[in-house]
Amino acid sequence: MLQSSHRLTVAMMPNLSHLAINGGAKAVKQALPPMYPGGMRVGAEEEEAVIEVIRSKRLFRYYGPNPGKSKTDELETAFSARIGARHALAVSSGSAALVCALIALGAGPGDEVIVPAYTWIASASAVLAAGAVPILAEVDESLTLDPADVARKITRHTRVIMAVHMRGAPCNMDGLSALARQHGIKLLEDVAQAAGASYRGAHLGSIGHAGAFSFQYNKIITCGEGGMVTTNDFELFRRTAMYHDVIGGIRNGVPPAKILPGVNLRMSELQAAVALVQFRRLDSLLAEMRQHNHALKASMADVSRRKGITFRKQNDAEGDTDICLVFYLPQPATAQRVVAALAAEGLPATVLHRPGYGDYHVYCNWLPIVDKRTWSVNGGPWRWHEGPVEYPRDQCPRTLDLLSRAVHIDISPDLTRENIEEMAAALNKVLDALA
Ligand SMILES: Cc1ncc(COP(=O)(O)O)c(C=O)c1O
Repeated sequence: MLQSSHRLTVAMMPNLSHLAINGGAKAVKQALPPMYPGGMRVGAEEEEAVIEVIRSKRLFRYYGPNPGKSKTDELETAFSARIGARHALAVSSGSAALVCALIALGAGPGDEVIVPAYTWIASASAVLAAGAVPILAEVDESLTLDPADVARKITRHTRVIMAVHMRGAPCNMDGLSALARQHGIKLLEDVAQAAGASYRGAHLGSIGHAGAFSFQYNKIITCGEGGMVTTNDFELFRRTAMYHDVIGGIRNGVPPAKILPGVNLRMSELQAAVALVQFRRLDSLLAEMRQHNHALKASMADVSRRKGITFRKQNDAEGDTDICLVFYLPQPATAQRVVAALAAEGLPATVLHRPGYGDYHVYCNWLPIVDKRTWSVNGGPWRWHEGPVEYPRDQCPRTLDLLSRAVHIDISPDLTRENIEEMAAALNKVLDALA
């Protein structure tokens, strides 16, 4: 439903009757595909792969009636080769990947982990699950961690910087790697939204000490739920494997005197079978999204120049997955008017932050975290931390300002040429009139 205030404001402006929000013809006539890149491709190959696992009765990676290489092993081998990291460990979800990696990196009670103020809440929740506390840092125009603010947030308690490659695009890995090196801090890449992306020729997930991927249904490739940890460090791999499986230490040759307790966050063979088929689709999905996004952006070149509209900053445009198009308007109110008008044209778009709209991607809406709620009556991570840590809702004003002016549009690989043409027409029509 369009908010009446938008309709009113737009209606009061002169010469805008051609906009669909004012009763004009819609620019987008054909329905746009849903944004489940790998999910929409699930079909006969995934079906066959699952049936093969079921017929083999080998549902568990480590044993079953039929010997031979497991699907999970196969997935890990293929994934580590594609990502260019020496080791890959499949786990049950992206959250599991983050928790395993954080714990393997030694983050725990008393430690701080720097996370961006704009990420899915799961990034920060994983820090709490490891027993450490999240410290929030601003994002810059790339919508990823601003190294300058990270530098300001580093204390003697900082154990890990979590570089979240948000909305498919790489962080400033040179800046973050330099900080990590300089301060002897670990760098963990959250690649949940950016599988297959790169930074200056290096694949994301191979640059920091570890990478964490998600194969949840929303992600570029999916097996419903699933995840992967990648690392170049064998000892770190062994620690991750040991935590993700109660006898992972024994299975991975950790000396008995060094075995630590773990839990079970393993991937099943059924998940791995689907993920393996999806993995083979990764490069073509990326190529399609890139082509669509470039075409759409090119169509906006003239209007964006005339109207002073800026696109999301890219730390390495060539490495972007192009899962979305993001541009900034000068004022939050303009961004909201544009989004309402685009919706009326048939083009769903969102402003990335609106006060009062509780999107769990924006830190001030992470109520369980910013209110420091804990499961145990005696405190949890914040009590173990030396000194108070507070989360005022306005602590990252730059992030809130950028998000409240950012217009976001999904770029599905399934968009057709007609879709792109109609989307371009809607964008040009609305921005010309309202920006
Ligand atoms: C940036 C980010 N980190 C972590 C996660 C957690 O992944 P999962 O849902 O597989 O636990 C997600 C996705 O939901 C995410 O978008």
